[in-house]
Amino acid sequence: MSKSLHVIVLAAGQGTRMRSSLPKVLQPLGGRPLLTHVVEAAEALEPARIHVVYGHGASQVQSALGYLDVNWVLQEQQLGTGHAVDQAMADVPDDGEVLVLYGDVPLIKSHSLKDLLTAGSDEALALLTLVVDEPGSYGRILRDDDNRVVGIVEAKDATRDQLFINEINTGIMCAPAKQLRSWLAQLNNDNAQGEYYLTDVVALAAQAGTRVVAGQAGSPDEVQGINNKADLAVAERVLQRQHAEALLEAGVTLRDPARFDQRGTVTAGADVSIDVNVVLEGEVILGDGVTIGPNCVLRNCRIGNRTNILPSSVIEHAVIGDNCQVGPFARLRPGTVMEARSKVGNFVETKKSRLGVNSKVGHLAYVGDATVGADVNIGAGVITCNYDGANKHETIVGDGAFVGSNSSLVAPVEIGSHATIGAGSVITKNAPPNTLTVSRNRQSSIDGWSRPRKKLSQ
Ligand code: UD1
Ligand code: CA
Repeated sequence: MSKSLHVIVLAAGQGTRMRSSLPKVLQPLGGRPLLTHVVEAAEALEPARIHVVYGHGASQVQSALGYLDVNWVLQEQQLGTGHAVDQAMADVPDDGEVLVLYGDVPLIKSHSLKDLLTAGSDEALALLTLVVDEPGSYGRILRDDDNRVVGIVEAKDATRDQLFINEINTGIMCAPAKQLRSWLAQLNNDNAQGEYYLTDVVALAAQAGTRVVAGQAGSPDEVQGINNKADLAVAERVLQRQHAEALLEAGVTLRDPARFDQRGTVTAGADVSIDVNVVLEGEVILGDGVTIGPNCVLRNCRIGNRTNILPSSVIEHAVIGDNCQVGPFARLRPGTVMEARSKVGNFVETKKSRLGVNSKVGHLAYVGDATVGADVNIGAGVITCNYDGANKHETIVGDGAFVGSNSSLVAPVEIGSHATIGAGSVITKNAPPNTLTVSRNRQSSIDGWSRPRKKLSQ
């Protein structure tokens, strides 16, 4: 009979070595808190319950991640990893199986965990270990003459000889709940750090005659512990390489996989091409044949088929149709909708605005709180004056309108369909359809006028 699986994630530590006001488990990896990566790996195992032991920065952790479907267990004082697991054991039944994950070991893959769970079949303690060249500050796996695992010694407690051991503890282990509970009750804090070490249960298990199996981790990347910003930076590169490999595998062209960052999820159609230094955040959906030029940032947006995003554009919470063109140097802010074949050119900012089919805002314009119809041309330097200092107002531009360069559309205002607005106009009243509306001083020339001359100095 398979036991019910309870995953305990340890996330209460301060992470002093991060030197940050943000608790360690909230530090971003791939744009998301470390802890979310671990919880996702746990969820893939479909456990009976996931318990997260939290403590340091409790309110920050709760407000950032309170939405997670987990049992939050408060460890008020961080007395060590053994003490932390013990806090969660109150909610784990005796016939359960416990898998311990560390909130600061975020790149663990669920298939490695499945292998470990299989290895640690009934009545055995299973550890995930790894042989490395530089064991550094990791706990060392102790084996007897018959090569059986008999304990773990922390680097800080190790003898000089033990420090040479290059099989390390990844921190990940699984054990039957009943036995684990009794081993935890026997822990003491008589060690270099004055903490109740979870690692000490290994020796207790071995002494009690319990089989201890050591499963080898798939790769060092997967089990890297993150204790400081240097570790975090290394893990970020590992994750980004994985993202890039997944996209390449899916047929996306990445001009340089090492200069691409994905901080969320990306769905890409066929023949998508992404140039260097592109950052994709949140949920980004790219249609077939989309090209993204160098130095673009796209956050939570959907880009239609065959649309080209030219260099150095920033796009956030926008929906862009098929065959559109954006940039270079365009900024599409939240609520921008571009219909098919529309174009937003250089140094144009849009916000909460819809641009109809085949409409163009080519240069140096601001379009905010506007609904622009189809086949509209908005000239260079046009500004929708949407804000009166207190409230935002809307601008409506009908189909086929032509708004001359450097016009100011003072909202609320409506430009009729096929209307033409003369360049440099300040439009404060609705402009009728099919008509030229001009609002500016008439040009005059003064004959015989001469420029002032500079006085001669004496
Ligand atoms: C731990 C292991 C070490 C292993 C390494 C792998 C112990 C004693 N040592 O060392 O053998 O090689 O991980 O990365 O387990 N935590 C709590 N409550 C506490 C203390 C810690 O929740 O009271 C959490 C931390 O937030 C962290 C995890 O447990 O997520 C590990 O704690 P940390 O202090 O980073 O242990 P290491 O020194 O890395
Ligand atoms: Ca650690």
